[in-house]
Amino acid sequence: MKKWLLLTIISAIALVLAACGGGGGAKSSDDYTKENPLVIKFSHVTAIDSVKGKSADYFAKLVDEKTEGRVKVEVYPSSQLYGDADELDALMSGNVHMIAPSVTKMVKLDPRWQYVDMPFLFQDAEHVQAFFDSEVAQSLFNADALASNDIMGKAFWPNGFKNFSSNKNPLVKPEDFAGQKFRAQAGKVLEAQFKALNAGSATISFGETYAALQQGTVDGTENPHNNFDTMKFYEVQKYYSTSAHGRLDYAIFVNKSFWESMPEDLGKLVDEALAEATTYAQGLAADENAKSLEKIKSVGSVEVYEMSQEERDVLKEAMQPVYDEFADVITKELLDGIEALKK
Ligand code: LMR
Repeated sequence: MKKWLLLTIISAIALVLAACGGGGGAKSSDDYTKENPLVIKFSHVTAIDSVKGKSADYFAKLVDEKTEGRVKVEVYPSSQLYGDADELDALMSGNVHMIAPSVTKMVKLDPRWQYVDMPFLFQDAEHVQAFFDSEVAQSLFNADALASNDIMGKAFWPNGFKNFSSNKNPLVKPEDFAGQKFRAQAGKVLEAQFKALNAGSATISFGETYAALQQGTVDGTENPHNNFDTMKFYEVQKYYSTSAHGRLDYAIFVNKSFWESMPEDLGKLVDEALAEATTYAQGLAADENAKSLEKIKSVGSVEVYEMSQEERDVLKEAMQPVYDEFADVITKELLDGIEALKK
């Protein structure tokens, strides 16, 4: 055999071995120590003290305790490592191993994730939890769109109901929205929601929303109380209405190849930690959102209008065109499944 050919074959084998973790193939559990841990990179876009930030840090703490430091979860909050535009790509390519996006951002892979944006779909937090625990929610995780992109859905984490805010005027009646431009997270359903209110919208990443509001690129936005509070949007918005017109919730997605390559015993402990962190997140969301509403009311820079159920019903009626346009996209199966979980 020619020398150059032999060298090429040897370096190809070395590359394959390196990709498998070096030396003799995939690493075993014993290869990971406190000094040389298995690292899980977890990227997210919200603040450290947000519902998601606290839950992510709690997960990292549990993993550290359960594995005695042999697995280290590196949490990158506040779009530090990747923002909305690129965190999903980073997950698919294995540059991060775990993300917790607001589920509507999964529209890039499967339009049904916009179920979360359908106006007034969920009755209350219990209804949302019943959905998370249901086969209907699981069917989103089972979709080929995830597996074929090397992604696995692991858990749902709640945040809360979204509320409208603006710099122009209080937002109560449908006509209050006319002519204003709102920041939207992603997807056509949110665009249609604002269109139904005769308003415009622009997709802006979460990390750039504060500046967009400050500079007047957009007039308003929609957030759960906790995001509005922890991002200090009250500094750059004048009016806030407790519209509770839609949800913002998360799903935990992991890189499938990475997750399945973890030594079995460590993988089991990490999964246990994730299940416990999920329970923690589910217990945290409602309280943190309630505390944030009190904070928003007390800061003094934003006028809070507490909407009545009758006022919400008027908004709901105005947003009906969203259902006419998108029920087929979200699918009847998913919408009926969610409806059936109402108490
Ligand atoms: C948003 O873009 O408004 C949300 O995705 C932020 C979040 O809670 O992750």
